[in-house]
Amino acid sequence: MKKLQAPRGTLDVLPQDARRRLKVIATADEVLSRAGYEPMETPVFEDTEVFARGVGESTDIVQKEMFTFEDKAGRSLTLRPEATAGICRAYIEHGMHKLAQPVKVWYAGPFFRHEAPQAGRFRQFTQIDAEAIGSDDPSLDAELILLLDEILELAGTGPRRLRLSSLGSRDTRAEYLEELKRFLRAREDELSEEVRARIDQNPLRAFDADHPGTQAVMKEAPLLLDRLAADDAEHFAAVRALLDMAGIEHELDPTLVRGLDYYTRTVFEFESDRLGAQAALGGGGRYDGLIEELGGPPTPGVGFAAGIERILLAAGDVTPERQPTVFIAMAKPDSGRLAFQLAGLLRREGFRTEMEQAGRSMKGQLKQADRVGAYATVILGDTIEVKDMSSGEQQEASSPADVPSLLRSVHEREASAT
Ligand code: HAM
Repeated sequence: MKKLQAPRGTLDVLPQDARRRLKVIATADEVLSRAGYEPMETPVFEDTEVFARGVGESTDIVQKEMFTFEDKAGRSLTLRPEATAGICRAYIEHGMHKLAQPVKVWYAGPFFRHEAPQAGRFRQFTQIDAEAIGSDDPSLDAELILLLDEILELAGTGPRRLRLSSLGSRDTRAEYLEELKRFLRAREDELSEEVRARIDQNPLRAFDADHPGTQAVMKEAPLLLDRLAADDAEHFAAVRALLDMAGIEHELDPTLVRGLDYYTRTVFEFESDRLGAQAALGGGGRYDGLIEELGGPPTPGVGFAAGIERILLAAGDVTPERQPTVFIAMAKPDSGRLAFQLAGLLRREGFRTEMEQAGRSMKGQLKQADRVGAYATVILGDTIEVKDMSSGEQQEASSPADVPSLLRSVHEREASAT
C-alpha cells in the first residue's frame, strides 16, 4: 500500500515540539496581556476578496501563494495567508470602532502560503500576531516592537537585528512610486527581467532583487525615507525616539520592503543570523488605510506577526523539562482497578500521574517509571508501597487515601535535596 505522508511543506509537530510551541504561545500571552492585548480569533478561511483587497493584488502572496478554492455555492474562499486582513474585516463587521480605542488584540494560529518549502519556510506555518487598531499614536508602533522583542528574548532566539523604516502616507508613497518608476524605466536595460516586468506593478520589489545589475542600479535609486511628508517624518522620529529611550537598537533600512501592500508609515522586521536564507523572525508595521480599503471608516492600525517555527529554529534544541511525575506499578495482575482508581484520585489532587498500561513485568514497570522521570512509584501488591526513586526507600501506605501525603513528603525531600 502507498505510504501516506503529510503534504509538501507542512509539518507534523510531535509531542516534544508541541510542548515547546505551547510555551512560546504562553509567553506571548503573558507578555501581550500585560500590555492590554486580548486574545481574538478569526476563521482559518475568508472570502478571497478580504486578502485580494487587504494584502493587495500586486503582492506575491495574492498573485502566487494563496490556497484558494470554491465552496459548493461557487464562492471563492482562501486559506488565510496572514492575520491582519481578517482581523480588520472582523473589526469592521463587529463595529469595533465603537469600543474604546485602540482595540488591542493578539492571536496565534495556522496560516497558509503556497511557497517553495525550505528550512524555515512552510506552506502551513504558525504565527503569533498582535494588532493595535484605532489610534495612530507612535507609542503603539514602539510598544509593539518592544513586545515582539521581549517575546523573542524570552523564547531564547538569541541575538537579533531590528530593521526599521517608514513608508510614509499613501499619497507620498504614490508620488514616490511614480518617481521610482521613472528612475527604473530610465535604467531598464540594466535591470533583471523579473524586476523589469514588474516596474509598473511593484517597483519597490527592485530593492529586494538578488540580480547584481539591479542591485547596482538600486544603490543610486531615490529613497522614500528622503521624501516623507513632514507629519510622517515627525511620526517616524517619535517612534525612533521611543525605541532609543527603551534601549532597543535598530538599523534604519530605507530598502526594507515588506511583502504586503497595506503598510503606511512604520515598517519593521527582526532578523536572526541563526536562520539562514529565511532570516525574518517576525515583522510588521502600520496600516492606516487598510480598514478603509476593506470598507470600514478611516481607521489607523499597527501590528506584528512572528513565525513560531522560526522562533523555535533560532532557539535551537533544548532538553525538555522533566515534570515531577508519579508512576503507579502493579505487583499483582489483579490491581488494575485499584491502580485506575488511585490514578484518578492522585490526578484530582494535582499529581501528574502515570500508571502501568502495557502489561510489563515488575522490572519493566520500574524501568518505565524511570523513563517517565518519576520521582516516586506507588507499587500495588498485598500492600501499597510508595517508593522514593532516588533513594530506593519504600514506605507503606495504610490506605489509598494515605498515598498523597506520603508522595508529598517524598517530593519535598527531593526538592530540598536539589
Ligand atoms: P509577514 O512578514 O508576511 O507579516 O510574516 C510574519 C512572519 O511570519 C515572518 O517574519 C515569518 O517569521 C513568518 N512566516 C511568514 N511566512 C512563512 C512561511 N512560509 N513559513 C514559515 N514562517 C513564515 C505578516 O504576515 C503581517 N500580517 C504582519 C503584520 C501584522 N503586520 C501588521 N500586523
